[in-house]
Amino acid sequence: MLAKDFIVQKSEFDLNKSGKVSAKSLSNIALVKYWGKTDPQIPTNPSISYTLTNSYTETTLSFEPKKANESEIRVFLDEVEKTDFVPKIKKFFQRIAEYAPYLEDYDFTLHTHNSFPHSSGIASSASGMSALSKCLIQMEVELGYKAKNQLQRSSFLSRLGSGSACRSVYPGLVTWGESEYIEGSSDLFAIPLEKDIHPVFKAFNDTILLIHEGTKSVSSTVGHQLMNNHPYAQLRFNEAKQNIKKLLEILKSGDLEAFGKLVEHEALSLHAMMMLSDPAFILMKPNTVSALDKLWEFRKETGLPLFFTLDAGANIHLLYPDEGKEKIEAFIQSNLLPLCQNEGIIYDRANFEVL
Ligand code: PMV
Repeated sequence: MLAKDFIVQKSEFDLNKSGKVSAKSLSNIALVKYWGKTDPQIPTNPSISYTLTNSYTETTLSFEPKKANESEIRVFLDEVEKTDFVPKIKKFFQRIAEYAPYLEDYDFTLHTHNSFPHSSGIASSASGMSALSKCLIQMEVELGYKAKNQLQRSSFLSRLGSGSACRSVYPGLVTWGESEYIEGSSDLFAIPLEKDIHPVFKAFNDTILLIHEGTKSVSSTVGHQLMNNHPYAQLRFNEAKQNIKKLLEILKSGDLEAFGKLVEHEALSLHAMMMLSDPAFILMKPNTVSALDKLWEFRKETGLPLFFTLDAGANIHLLYPDEGKEKIEAFIQSNLLPLCQNEGIIYDRANFEVL
């Protein structure tokens, strides 16, 4: 599929109709990270993520033919109007205008809710943009257009809202970005990894330590940009491409130790890129480092398979299989919870159910 295959004509839609649609989309956590992009939201390396279960966004989109010359967009988060969210939605709608030409003829009201607190530092863009894209696919159906492959289309649209959002459309392990090691992979949309997954990776926990609540000092948009002309960019992109191959082998074999080594290296590489950017920035907080120290010590002492990954922030995603869960969670409660702000913790896990 090429980008032009997603273009539709206004004449394919009944533009007199009004309606209301709703969708839920799950957040995801990358194991091999996407960091760096070219226009329009084309990743500089492929990525693989786990879609989560308890971290999600629910969105309701009401649409009616526009009343004024310019279309109006209103956004409510937990019933509170958020005018500061509007520019981001407008930008998204402009980006997808070619693929969703009906947007300019409508007024919209969005009601959205995140399962996690807005201030938690958990990025809502992945689940938020994919929930909105799913709504648009349903709106299209109401307007009389049915895409042949709705999931692929909503992944394509989500990507133009926020890169990582395109992976949230599918459950389980999901990949985005063209890779010579994955048949059917694309820079334009994500695809689920369904074959060759060892059972140990199908019941995986992701407990999120909320180390620092609040907005990040540097947004991921700026972080991606700083990979342009970054002295280590090419090395990083090549390594990530090879890590896709390695992770596929690990997912097949069930080698937990190799899994931990790879995902922790990926997380630290992401943060190393930030530290080596110009201007440099650090998103980890002192308690992030303390928690990683304690985790490594615990693993050395017990040999239990507790690993971490990080997204572009101070929070830690603790990854562990169901086996050994009790001892690991007792350790989290006693040693890691005190490092979280307001004792914030989210017990999540990978989700393999189709929504
Ligand atoms: O989708 P964005 O632009 O918010 O970028 C996400 C980047 C990381 O979360 C750090 C990595 C990833 O692959 O999700």
